[in-house]
Amino acid sequence: MPKVFLNGEIVDEGDARVPVTDRGLLFADAVYEVVRVYGGEPFLWREHMARMERGARFLQIPLPFGPEELKGYALELIDLNECYLGVVYIQLTRGPAPRVHRFPERVRPTAFMFTQEVARPDRELVRRGVDLVTLPDVRWGLCEVKTVGLLPNVLGKEEAAKRGAFDALFVRDGVITEGTSSNFFAVRNGRLVTYPVDNILPGVTRAKVLEIAGRLGLEVQERGLEVDELRDCEEAFLTGTVLEVMPVRSVDGIELGPPGPVTRRLLEEYEGLIEA
Ligand code: PDD
Repeated sequence: MPKVFLNGEIVDEGDARVPVTDRGLLFADAVYEVVRVYGGEPFLWREHMARMERGARFLQIPLPFGPEELKGYALELIDLNECYLGVVYIQLTRGPAPRVHRFPERVRPTAFMFTQEVARPDRELVRRGVDLVTLPDVRWGLCEVKTVGLLPNVLGKEEAAKRGAFDALFVRDGVITEGTSSNFFAVRNGRLVTYPVDNILPGVTRAKVLEIAGRLGLEVQERGLEVDELRDCEEAFLTGTVLEVMPVRSVDGIELGPPGPVTRRLLEEYEGLIEA
């Protein structure tokens, strides 16, 4: 039986109980993080914690544990579950309270973590790139908060799969914002183009890739790419904790693959970081 972390304790998954009145369950009144685990070590922990703290502050959920304390528990879970290649999932909810919409006054946040084994991205996919479709971005207006209100994302991913694609890109006002659980980059005229961190999820992987791009001297435009511009792009890729840097082969049938030199260079550098 795998172990999980719940409110300061490590228990068997079967013994971890959260009240049905938890606001995470009733209102998606919660934030979450997915942190990669490579070789038994959480990857980019500080960056994920910083984003969780920002989201929690925005929602006015007090943090019951500091980032270092939480990391201690995460390491313990990784060891107990022998999850050396996978992810740690962390969720922080406002906690259980009688069901009214207003923030309850006396409430203890619920914090839980579990580990899950997740393999590295499929090498064949990385070699040839993935196929995407675009969908209207019907998500709520505060996409920079890593809220667990993921129903539009779930529906988007499902629709993409139904159409035979790997994933979907959300489109707002004719412009590509991001993937259902990843950020999107295109290469146009040799320049990297990606949506600014304005009402999209500020990806930890996106930030790392931009840092690498800066180091390599690549020119970057943080702006929305029009769907109509896809035809003029040389390359595209997705970034995310689980996907790492995933080359895109096509979007809505428009060919962008096989993986081009800019994507391959950034992928190589990102993999170097993982190795390190
Ligand atoms: N999702 N955009 C959205 C909507 C996301 O849900 C995610 C990550 C990203 C990429 O962010 P990062 O590089 O920090 O993982 C972008 C996680 C992995 C998930 O829900 O599984």
